Amino acid sequence: MKYTKNRYGLYILLLLLGSCSKSPVADREEPAPEPVPVDLRSTREKYSTAITECPEAEWYTGIIKRELAELPANPHTGPSSSVLQLGKTLFFEKRMGSIQNSCSSCHNPAKFWTDGRKVALGGGVRNTPSIENAWYLKGHLFHDGRATTYADQITEAIESPIEMDGDLNIIPWRLSQIPGYIALFEAAYGSSTITRERILDALEVYIKSIHSSETAFDRFVRGDYNALTDQQIEGLHLFRTKAKCINCHNGPFFTDLDYHNLGYATNYRGSLDNGCQEATGLEADKGKFRTPGLRNVANTAPYWHNGEIGTLEEVIDLLNRGMPHTGRQRINGRLSPHIRPLQLTSDEQQAIVAFLNALSSPEPHVVAPDLTQ
Ligand code: HEC
Ligand code: HEC
Repeated sequence: MKYTKNRYGLYILLLLLGSCSKSPVADREEPAPEPVPVDLRSTREKYSTAITECPEAEWYTGIIKRELAELPANPHTGPSSSVLQLGKTLFFEKRMGSIQNSCSSCHNPAKFWTDGRKVALGGGVRNTPSIENAWYLKGHLFHDGRATTYADQITEAIESPIEMDGDLNIIPWRLSQIPGYIALFEAAYGSSTITRERILDALEVYIKSIHSSETAFDRFVRGDYNALTDQQIEGLHLFRTKAKCINCHNGPFFTDLDYHNLGYATNYRGSLDNGCQEATGLEADKGKFRTPGLRNVANTAPYWHNGEIGTLEEVIDLLNRGMPHTGRQRINGRLSPHIRPLQLTSDEQQAIVAFLNALSSPEPHVVAPDLTQ
C-alpha cells in the first residue's frame, strides 16, 4: 500500500512540473536579481548633504529617534535687561554664601562654567557640571534630575551646606547693606525691596541666558562641508552608527534628557552614588544619571557625575569595553541594556574623540561686575 501511494505521489508531482514548464511565465528568461548597490562614496561624500539625508543612524529598539542638529537660538537671550544685570551681579556675589563663595566660584566662566575639579569644593561627591545651555535642561536639573524648577535648583545651590551654605532668610538683609544693590533691585523690579523671590528670579534669568556658541559641527550641518576634517566626519559617522552614541546623545545638545545607568558609580570616598533613586525613591532608578550634553565637552574634564574619568579617550575606551568594573569602580543597580562592547578599533576611537573636539565653541569672556570685585 505504502509503495503505491508513493508512486502516485511521484506521478502527480511530475504532472505538476510538466504543466508548469508549459506555462508562459516559465518560458520567458528570468530577469537576473538586481545587485544590491554598493555605495562607493567616501564617508565625506555621504555626509556632504543635509544630516537627515546622511546614512541611517543605528537605533536600538524603543528609542525615540532624534537626529543631531545645529545649535538653536537660546530663547532666553535678548537685549541685556536690568533683571539680567542684577542676576549676573548676584551670580558673582561672594557675600551671599556663608563661606565667601559665589556661584562663579564653582561655575567659572573661564573654565567653561565648571571648576575643573574632580568634585566641587565643600564636601560634596559630585562633579560640577557646566551650566552652559541649562535653559535646555528644564525639568531635569542636577546630575540626577532632582530639581524640576530653576528656583528649586538655585535655592539648593545657595542653601546647601556643601555648596554656598547661605540662608535665603538672611541674604536679602545682607544685600541691602551693600551699597549698589538697592539701585540694582530698583532698576530691575521697579522698587528697592530685596526679597528671596526676586533674588531667585534674577539668578534664573541670568543662568538661562548662558549658552555655548557656534562650533565646527554647526557650520558643517549648515552646509560648510569643509568645517570638519575627514577624521571628524568618520567620528560623526561612528557616533551615529557603530558606536551607538546617538541613542542617548541626540538632538541639538546631544542629550535625550533621559536617565541611564552607566556604572562607574564609586565616588572618591569609596561609596556608591544612588543617582536618580535619590530623587524618585524607585529601585529601578538606582545608579541612573541624566545623559549630559556634549557641547564643549572637550573643555570640561574631568568627566562623569563623580569626576572619576580623566579624559575623553578614557570615556570612549570604557564605553567600547561595555563599561567594565575597573579598579575600585562598581556598578550600582543595573547597567543600561544599551551599553555593550562596541568592537571599535583604536583608529575609530580616536575619530570619535576628534568628532567630540568639533563640538567646542570659543571660551566665554565674562567680566565679573564691579560691585562684586
Ligand atoms: C561649591 C560649588 C558650587 C557652587 C558654589 C554652586 N554650584 Fe551649581 N553645581 C555644583 C555641583 C557639584 C552641581 C551638580 C550637583 C548634583 O548634581 O548633585 C551643580 C549643579 C548646578 C546646576 C545644574 C546643572 C545641570 O547640568 O543639571 C545649575 C543650573 C547650577 N549648579 C547653578 C548654580 C548657581 C546659580 C549657583 C549660585 C547660586 C551655584 N550653582 C553654585 C557646584 C556648585
Ligand atoms: C545608554 C545611553 C548612552 C550611550 C549609548 C552613550 N552615552 Fe555617553 N553618557 C550617558 C550618560 C547617562 C552619561 C553620564 C554618566 C554618569 O555620570 O554616570 C554619559 C556620559 C558621557 C560623557 C561624559 C560627559 C561629562 O560631561 O561628564 C561622554 C564624553 C560621553 N558620555 C560620550 C559618549 C559617546 C562618545 C558614546 C558612544 C561611544 C556614548 N557616550 C554613549 C549616556 C549614554
